[in-house]
Amino acid sequence: MMTTGFVVAIDGPAGAGKSTVAKLVAEELGYAYIDTGAMYRAVTLKLINTGTAFSPEAVGRIARGMHISFKPDGKVNRVFADGLEITEAIRSTAVTDAVSRVAALGAVREAMVAQQRRMGQEGNVVLDGRDIGTVVFPQAGCKVFLTASVDERARRRYEELKAKGQTVDLEQIKHDIAVRDKKDSERELAPLKQAEDAVLVDTSALTIDQVVATILKLVRERQ
Ligand code: DC
Repeated sequence: MMTTGFVVAIDGPAGAGKSTVAKLVAEELGYAYIDTGAMYRAVTLKLINTGTAFSPEAVGRIARGMHISFKPDGKVNRVFADGLEITEAIRSTAVTDAVSRVAALGAVREAMVAQQRRMGQEGNVVLDGRDIGTVVFPQAGCKVFLTASVDERARRRYEELKAKGQTVDLEQIKHDIAVRDKKDSERELAPLKQAEDAVLVDTSALTIDQVVATILKLVRERQ
């Protein structure tokens, strides 16, 4: 698929800092930001809220019938499904626990990839996810694979949940992250994998500002 403007693809495992960084990079460049993980979460939320029994056909139908959109608002990237705001709701534990199963379905991926391509077709856009550089926009002008050690990703998640006042167990978080990595990397369709022409950025020992600066430099070299 051809785009007129520039596309920045940021892929990587859960907790590497993709959405924080992608949002800042988009802001700095004056580009739109598409959080593709939020889209798979939106489908999962609708499945839960409508009490639909899990079947590939039923979830595929939900995915095809949904319109997902984003609206940046200060520090927050607001997410809407068919006009209703779901920014907070898609971060619930129920959604997080079920989303891998939903994202593994071909019919769901087909519907989401089509929406992502439509939203990104004019370019000047940053997308983050698992398969942006490999499947959604393989011709993206700049591809980054953002990663961090499991320990560091677990520590970040622990701090985030603690700041929200939740009681959390670091070992449990580490375990959950490792399980999700395995599911995302080993699934049959569009598994999490670094594109050959993606630049690997390990964020374990970097600040958010350093990661953003690294990506902006790569983008400017390629524009
Ligand atoms: O990045 P996240 O935690 O919000 O992603 C939610 C789920 O969606 C996660 O299980 C991986 C999956 N996902 C995907 O399969 N493809 C994408 N492009 C983005 C996310």
